[in-house]
Amino acid sequence: MKRVFLIVLDSLGAGEMPDAPLFGDRDCHTLKRIAGSPAFRFETLKKLGMGHIDGQEFLPRVKRPSAAVGRLAERSMGKDTTIGHWEIAGLVSPSPMPTYPDGFPAGIIDAFSRETGRKVLLNRPYSGTDAIRDFGEEHQKTGALIVYTSADSVFQIAAHEETVPLEELYEDCRIARRLLTGKDAVGRVIARPFVGTPGHYTRTANRHDFSVEPPRETLLDALKKAGKTVIGIGKITDIFAGRGVTETIYTHGNEEGMAEALAALDRDFEGLCFVNLVDFDSLYGHRQDVDGYAAAFAAFDAWLPSFLKKMKEEDLLIITADHGCDPGDSHTDHTREYIPLIVYGAPIRPRNLGTGSGFCRIAATVAEYLGIGYRGDGESFLSQIRKPDQNDRALCRSAIGAMENAYAPYSCCTVGAALLAADGRVFTGCNIENAAFGPTVCAERTAIFKAVSEGERSFVKLAVCGARDGRIRSSFPPCGVCRQVLAEFCPPDMPVLLITGKTTFRAVTLGELLPYSFSPGCVEP
Ligand code: THU
Repeated sequence: MKRVFLIVLDSLGAGEMPDAPLFGDRDCHTLKRIAGSPAFRFETLKKLGMGHIDGQEFLPRVKRPSAAVGRLAERSMGKDTTIGHWEIAGLVSPSPMPTYPDGFPAGIIDAFSRETGRKVLLNRPYSGTDAIRDFGEEHQKTGALIVYTSADSVFQIAAHEETVPLEELYEDCRIARRLLTGKDAVGRVIARPFVGTPGHYTRTANRHDFSVEPPRETLLDALKKAGKTVIGIGKITDIFAGRGVTETIYTHGNEEGMAEALAALDRDFEGLCFVNLVDFDSLYGHRQDVDGYAAAFAAFDAWLPSFLKKMKEEDLLIITADHGCDPGDSHTDHTREYIPLIVYGAPIRPRNLGTGSGFCRIAATVAEYLGIGYRGDGESFLSQIRKPDQNDRALCRSAIGAMENAYAPYSCCTVGAALLAADGRVFTGCNIENAAFGPTVCAERTAIFKAVSEGERSFVKLAVCGARDGRIRSSFPPCGVCRQVLAEFCPPDMPVLLITGKTTFRAVTLGELLPYSFSPGCVEP
């Protein structure tokens, strides 16, 4: 039962990206900033190897880190929560979400008024509490809606619960959501209901967010489609507008988020548990509270052992972030930073992955681990960090054994293949050359033709190796003809183990070897 626990420490950046000045950020480094606080504690994350991540020289290191670590650069043109999480889930966003420092364009406001039947007040960036204090009375007198925004990509509507009934306010939000598309697809439309009398207005807990949907298929969608469980803890469901999440657990901050993640470990499921710990960002990053941030980090570090202890054989823990929010820099906004990456679990071989391009590499890796074909905009790094399991090793040994029978007097390249069928049988093959050259048959085709001729039609894994003069030097990927023949019988997400040495291999999928294949479906009448 494979489970991935993906925990996002909201805003825990791992240092400024080269393009940070473009985003108004310079000298930002969230982790380094909080590491300077007396409240900072670093025990468990130290053992995992966080100090080995590129750019974290200020952190202590250990001799033998127990996790695979690295840092990832953001490929999207943004530094907000939504774009960060979408990229973690596979989607690169080429442009930032729109913001409205001068208010929303007349065209949008006019259409909004027409469809809601109400006039609009304010329409500028404004503090939420100031908005109801300054415009609440006029709103109550005229019935006009208070529309405002902020430095974030938001369209907020404030209305008194007795002037505009809640259901109507929510409907007005849905109208705004429908109107805000294309270049005006703001991240969130937010209902901001309030109660009270002039001078004494207060906001209620009936706030509701209407998030924009991800523009393409995410890892979450793909997992759900494949019948896997996707548990969203914290604001995950809102970030994805509910798409691809099979179960939602809302929380009130880090403590509850950590408790829910721990509780999820006790449950039986196959799939992803995606957790967002929001306090780092909302309580400490934006409020520029360095010590508070460091204390929250210390609390997470102290909580971690309880989680690691309960992890099972096939569980993976990934700890990362969605952007930076350096609490000690000159502004209260997010900061354009690398994110840390820590991957821990029994199937993982500790190593330093260096710096990678794209948060989306996480999605591709999770998808590969959970055995689905989705890759999104990134490349999986699973083959670099996965310990080979016993079955994979055995299949590789079969391929290497088959290579011994190769008949290759002309090329002196001996090739072996081992094809694992769904019923557990293994069919091996070697290359068989011919003095006329043309009739030569490759190892992979020998294996699959043997299998098919014995009635087997369903395959789950292939291992291939090749040697020159008897020595395996590097991988020997299947030729084009073999890929085409394999695609006839094997699914695109079937792993192909490309053997690189006596005990090493790189796993790819058949779909990666032959994308857009010409397959039986193409000739169906
Ligand atoms: N060969 C294979 O067995 N499998 C492949 O996919 C590529 C090539 C063999 C054919 C020939 O005997 C030798 O490698 C050199 O091309």
